[in-house]
Amino acid sequence: MWDERFGTKEYLFGTEPASFLRDNVGLVPPGARTLCIAEGEGRNAVFLAGLGCQVTAFDASAVGLDKARKLAGARGVQLALHHATIEEWDWSQPFDLVVGVFIQFVGPEGRTALFDGIRRALGPGGRLMLHGYTPEQVALGTGGPGRRENMYTQDMLRDSFADLQVLRLASYEKVLREGTGHSGRSALIDFIADAPA
Ligand SMILES: C[S@@+](CC[C@H](N)C(=O)[O-])C[C@H]1O[C@@H](n2cnc3c(N)ncnc32)[C@H](O)[C@@H]1O
Repeated sequence: MWDERFGTKEYLFGTEPASFLRDNVGLVPPGARTLCIAEGEGRNAVFLAGLGCQVTAFDASAVGLDKARKLAGARGVQLALHHATIEEWDWSQPFDLVVGVFIQFVGPEGRTALFDGIRRALGPGGRLMLHGYTPEQVALGTGGPGRRENMYTQDMLRDSFADLQVLRLASYEKVLREGTGHSGRSALIDFIADAPA
């Protein structure tokens, strides 16, 4: 399905990063060894590499990864790109920064395993930057999987990453212009938190 969605010349979510990353750029640790989860066409990975992060990114879509490779080439940055699913990824490799932007293809049945993997990928003092939709997004219909149970709430994120020190946890509405894939008034949630050193 994602290969088909990405099978156009245009970038479905645009070539600029999620506004979440731009808005919180001051919280991107300089030079961080960074993991971008399910990074699709590479817009966030390329932005972070441009800031000086050493970026590893993976995605289940080979078509998305090809576009990520092209975007990195056009912007003159290096990415380590891997064709893998969240189930296949080796979460034991530690990172200074783990980034998950709109990875809500995962429902309640897979979320515990995914969040456990993310937690394992955070090295000592590692930072998590997670961004997605709240359940209110389903009524807005401007992006995302359309399943309330896939969305995040503040309580869910606080409880799932209970040992992290929270730097930002906020849910809000905002008009997004991120390609045709995420376009219009959106119900969003940001979570930025640090693992113990
Ligand atoms: C909404 S897109 C977000 C892409 C990117 N994070 C961004 O913000 O532009 C969701 C991504 O999840 C990927 N994906 C779907 N199922 C996956 C899985 N089981 N493992 C890894 N990636 C998956 C898709 O290929 C797609 O790139």
